[in-house]
This record gives sequence, structure tokens and C-alpha cells, in this order.
Amino acid sequence: VSWLDTPFCSLLDVRYPIVQTGMGWVSGARLTAATSEAGGFGILAAVTLDPEAMVAAVRRVRKRTAAGFGVNLRPDQPDLAERIDLLAAEGIAAVSFAGGPPPAVILRVRDAGLRSIVTVGRPRHAEKMLDAGADVLLAQGAEGGGHTGDVPTSLLLPAVVDLAAGRVPVLAAGGFFDGRGLAAAIAWGADGVAMGTRFLLTRESRVPDEVKRRYFEASLTDSVVSRALDGQPMRVLRNEAYLEAAQAVDNRAGAWRRLAGAGRNAARVRRMTGQSWAQLAREGLALRRREGLTLEQVSRAADSPMLIKTALVDGDPVHGLLPTGQVAGYLADEPTVAELIDGIVAQALEAGHRFQDFQD
Ligand SMILES: Cc1cc2nc3c(=O)[nH]c(=O)nc-3n(C[C@H](O)[C@H](O)[C@H](O)COP(=O)(O)O)c2cc1C
Repeated sequence: VSWLDTPFCSLLDVRYPIVQTGMGWVSGARLTAATSEAGGFGILAAVTLDPEAMVAAVRRVRKRTAAGFGVNLRPDQPDLAERIDLLAAEGIAAVSFAGGPPPAVILRVRDAGLRSIVTVGRPRHAEKMLDAGADVLLAQGAEGGGHTGDVPTSLLLPAVVDLAAGRVPVLAAGGFFDGRGLAAAIAWGADGVAMGTRFLLTRESRVPDEVKRRYFEASLTDSVVSRALDGQPMRVLRNEAYLEAAQAVDNRAGAWRRLAGAGRNAARVRRMTGQSWAQLAREGLALRRREGLTLEQVSRAADSPMLIKTALVDGDPVHGLLPTGQVAGYLADEPTVAELIDGIVAQALEAGHRFQDFQD
């Protein structure tokens, strides 16, 4: 249908302007392939994979679908250049980044023949990324999951749409879950929606059932945005692990015990991502300088991916962290990805008919 066939669809050759975002430990090959196969655009999470595992995951998606998909990376990964070359060789469609990559990274992605999709949380970030030459802006409002900003979607989105002024497609993110949201995003001038939490709660998402249950049970006010976890504002469910981390910030007593625990987790992260200790330390020091963090916060930053894995992979929603969008408080069903996408498209069209009905 023509109004759902937006510039984003043309740019990346997708049927529907519906993106499943890159979510660490969540958007693996199965979820990503299911989204692209159903006519959306799936994004594989690769931040916690070493380059070899990243390529293996890309090939697993490829086996399941001929449709295009993207890969999520961190703009400050030390082996970023190598990863971009590997992804170009695999022929993937786009690389997505949370956090503003330097212009040189965006250029490198473009030179490799890939598109860049960049998450922005403030109008100023959007301006910077437009100047840097990003191909798609993903405007994520405060209600969104994981690392998130403080401007709500209803205000961020029109601001970013105005700044982009039709030069690049804009995706609306933060709080979207259904077809009304998609129609509203298009009415705002966006070119589609990007959703994390909604896709986390589908059949194809491998997040264990007892953990999904915690998300389903949450109300709209059961999540918080905190810097206590890795120094950057992150939205998580207010569970036991979050409360402990938040208290630990005010309580120096257990600092050494936690530092030791964080060190063990940093060792695991190192093994998984194939980084050297020197790279890990350099990254930690850069983070400390950039964000003005204490050493303990830096060690916590290395710790948080493993605490997220404890919940989302190992299935322990008490001791692990549960990144989430506020929208979890709204969700109660677990559709397949195809059911979800078909339902969103049908409901968006119905919402479009309402505009029509008012005219008649
Ligand atoms: C469990 C979880 C993990 C996430 N991990 C990442 C990540 O690794 N990289 C990234 O760019 N964004 C990550 N995000 C943010 C999402 O990609 C997306 O931008 C956000 O969830 C959108 O908001 P919504 O949840 O309201 O749809 C994560 C979000 C969640 C809920």
C-alpha cells in the first residue's frame, strides 16, 4: 500500500517500514531472519560477538532468509574497521549504531558499500549525525529500552523529522508496539517504526519463558532509567539486580567484592568479544575520561553486559538485569514475528482509513 511504502523501504528494499532493532543477547539469527522474512527489517546484535562469531551468525540469518537485514555494532569497538570489511564481504544491507559514531566511521561504512542507521536521542545528536552523513536516523524517545535519552518520542520525533527535512529517512522508536503507532509515526513525518521490546516478546525471541514472564507482568511504571549500571542512562525493569546495583552506588562497603565480581565478568566479555586486556583497559579509560566516571563505575560498565546475559540468556530474572522499554507495561501477548508484522500492517491501514472516513 502506497503510504506504507516509504523512502526507508526503497532505500533498504524492504516490504514494510518496520524495523526490529539490534538488541544484545536478544536479536540473534532466528529473530533477525524471522523479521526480514516477514517483510520487516531485522537487525542482528553483534556487540557481544567476536568477529568470527559475528560472521557465523550473519550466515545463519542468510540460511533462513534471502531478504536484507542489518547488523548492530558499537561505534567504539577497537576492531570496527575489520568488522565493517567482513560485513561488506558478506553482503549485508546496513550497520546500525547506538551512540554517535565519529564521521570517519560513517564514511567507512559508506565506502564499504553499506548503509548506516544511527540512533539519536536529542535533536543536537541528529544534527551531528546528519552532518556526518548517516543514511538513516533512528530517533529513540525516552520511553525506549536499553540506553535511552530524556526527550519523549512525541517531542523528539517531530524535531528530528524537521531537521532531516526529507534528506534521509527517519525511524520512530521508543514505545511503539502496534499499527496505530506505525500510522502515527507516518503522520508525524517519520518513514517507519523501530521496535525493541515488542520483538523481545515474540515466539522467535529466545529469551527464556520465565524471563519473558517478568516483562509481561510489568506495569507501565515498573521500569527506571539509571546511570548506576554502566554509567550511561539505561532503562531496565526495577528488579532485584537493579536495586542492588543502585544501592551499591551509595554504599562503599561492598566495593571490593563488587570490583572482583566485575573483574571476573570483564574476563568473560574479553573472551567473547576477542578483545585484548589492553584494548579493554583503553576502552575503560576512554569511558572514564568521556563520562567522568569513577573507577568503580568503569568496572561496572564492563560488568553490565554479563549481568544482562544472566537474565536474557541464562534465564535468571532476579540476579540479571532486564533492559526494557516502558512499553513492556502494555504487552501481554506473545505473537510470532509474522503475526506481529501482519497485525501491525493491518491495523495501520485501518488507522489510515479513519483519516479517510473523516474526510468523507
Ligand atoms: C533487551 C534490550 C537490549 C538492547 N540492546 C541494544 C544493543 O545492543 N544495541 C543497540 O543499539 N540498542 C539496544 N537496545 C535498544 C533497542 O535497540 C531499541 O532502540 C529500543 O528498545 C527501542 O525502544 P522500545 O523498546 O520501546 O521499542 C536494547 C533494548 C533492549 C530492550
